Amino acid sequence: MTADVRIDVHLTVEDLAEQLRSDVHTGLSQRPRRLPPKWFYDARGSELFDRITRLPEYYPTRTERRILAAGAQDVAAISDAKTLVELGSGSSEKTRLLLDAMRAHGTLARFVPLDVSEAALREASAQIGTAYPGLEVHGLVADFTRHLDRVPNGAGRLFAFLGGTIGNLEPEERARFFGELRAVLHPGERLLIGADLVKDPGTLVAAYDDAAGVTAEFNRNVLRVLNNRLGADFDPGSFDHVARWDPDNSWIEMLLRSTRAQTVTIPELEMTVEFEDGEELRTEISAKFTAERLGAELAEAGFTREHRWTDPAGAFALLLAVAD
Ligand code: SAH
Ligand code: TRP
Repeated sequence: MTADVRIDVHLTVEDLAEQLRSDVHTGLSQRPRRLPPKWFYDARGSELFDRITRLPEYYPTRTERRILAAGAQDVAAISDAKTLVELGSGSSEKTRLLLDAMRAHGTLARFVPLDVSEAALREASAQIGTAYPGLEVHGLVADFTRHLDRVPNGAGRLFAFLGGTIGNLEPEERARFFGELRAVLHPGERLLIGADLVKDPGTLVAAYDDAAGVTAEFNRNVLRVLNNRLGADFDPGSFDHVARWDPDNSWIEMLLRSTRAQTVTIPELEMTVEFEDGEELRTEISAKFTAERLGAELAEAGFTREHRWTDPAGAFALLLAVAD
């Protein structure tokens, strides 16, 4: 049987370029300077993230995989879903545990991965299409903060949002995202969400500042994206990678710190940016939750929490919630 794979592109090259220009202009004009995280993920960025997931310090991926391995059958049975929609799907590697359980449960018909990274989405869709004959794979190159209404309709969908990516949204963005997601789900449809939990700062910081320097390369990759797409002249080597725990906001902050006073030009924006020696550029937050707080935010948005799975050490949680 040939693979049944279709990809819809809701983010055109022009659309992406326009947004990148606007994000970079806004983010680099303000103090402290910042960039939104979705620009990490060009083809090289997605590859570097894949390497991060295999680092000894980066516990979230393997912990979530273990939780999924133990809980996927229950998720399949409770949700009884025909379609699995995955937001920020990346390589969709852990997702196979869910697909396997849904197939064994006898309901699986369709898989809808959604990601901004076209390269990662195409590769994952092709691989899943080949590995699951008879499964309809309908990939969406789209932004989960803008295009949730493009997700194909149909009864009995389960939405998965794995990897702790929810923590990469700012609190206000997160609330808006939950609201928009609730609006596209029909009552009775479900959300399975993976979230990294609060723990000792040493463990948290190490997960975002590995000894081999892969995360540092990933962080600096955003500067290469700006060089490639906007003709900027960032020297990635003159920015240090910094990961810092912010206890007040309960998040890890990822920064790039200029190692000297320097001027960067961004011709496509007709912009020059002056960095002082030691000046920081914030590239990412990764919020850490308690299962209670995440459950409360979901309830606020119109979901009822049905089930919660964690690893024995309580490092990571998977929550299953149903739309009211
Ligand atoms: N779910 C995978 C990947 C997590 S990395 C895992 O658990 O390992 C985060 C993924 O979300 C990346 O693939 C990135 O390209 C994607 N992403 C980030 N911001 C996005 C956005 N606004 N819309 C859609 N995808 C996004
Ligand atoms: N969703 C991942 C997380 O918050 C993304 C991530 C992992 C990340 N390591 C990173 C983002 C380093 C930027 C820099 O855990």
